[in-house]
Amino acid sequence: MKVFTTIAEMRAFARSVRRSDQRIALVPTMGALHEGHLTLVREAANHADVVVVSIFVNQTQFGPKEDFSAYPRTLQEDCDRLSEEGFTSAVFAPSVEEMYPDGDSTTWVAVERLTEHLCGTSRPGHFRGVATVVTKLFTICLPHVAVFGLKDAQQFFVIRRLTADLNLDVEVMGVQTVRESDGLALSSRNRYLSADERVQGTVLYRAVSAAGEAIKSGETDGTAITRLMVDQLEKADAGTVDYAQLVNAADFQPVQSLSSGMTVVAAVAVYFGNARLIDNAIVDVP
Ligand code: PAJ
Repeated sequence: MKVFTTIAEMRAFARSVRRSDQRIALVPTMGALHEGHLTLVREAANHADVVVVSIFVNQTQFGPKEDFSAYPRTLQEDCDRLSEEGFTSAVFAPSVEEMYPDGDSTTWVAVERLTEHLCGTSRPGHFRGVATVVTKLFTICLPHVAVFGLKDAQQFFVIRRLTADLNLDVEVMGVQTVRESDGLALSSRNRYLSADERVQGTVLYRAVSAAGEAIKSGETDGTAITRLMVDQLEKADAGTVDYAQLVNAADFQPVQSLSSGMTVVAAVAVYFGNARLIDNAIVDVP
């Protein structure tokens, strides 16, 4: 497994792969890899000859009061895990200076409308940072296909939209959320949780599952579905609710009345101390 730290080396490798008519899959990550990330890597290997995993903690998607400096950085362990698994041909792990020589960006990729609610409201500037770094990773790693987790549903739909809107020649694929046996979605941020918060953390899954079941049983009132999620979240002794909302997957705008054929996303975010956890259920309305 090759590890590239410069854009020039990464691009030269990607070009040589393309010249030999092989397909490249990219799995963008911020490292601190867990089974969720590894599931994306295995899925990527099903769709390409060469899998590239990028590991870069992207400062432009963190707010000034967020956990950028505390975010776990475990590059050696991450590379060991990827290498043991055997699906990854190359890791792209650039420095901040390599990706942002001026320390910041002057040019931004901003996806509007889809970013007005949920994490777009709670984390101003977050999706602009994500969309910009992902666009850069696409032009550096030259993937045919890029794989993202549906745990970050809004991020997935934002990237799919930017790829379509900018006519990028990359197929964007989504992978189901990987969970602990009690339902908690795997996240690099779970390591911030105390033992008690870890137990309480399952409330997110219970909330979005309650919404999903209600929709599948025929509930069409958006307010009632949102109320179900809030009721579940309020059962936890710990945590502060950031949001519990039901949106249309097409535009991530709130939905009041569900109709057959719609795909909706029931999404929640909860703070446990400094850790902010998110979860969602993507549901086709029967
Ligand atoms: P990160 O949080 O490291 O996540 C990398 C990828 O792993 C994302 O596509 C995310 O949705 C996916 N992922 C995380 N936990 C998962 C789980 N439990 N099940 C399935 N997939 C999971 O998301 C980012 O990094 C960044 O925003 C990035 C896209 C790399 C841009 O900086």
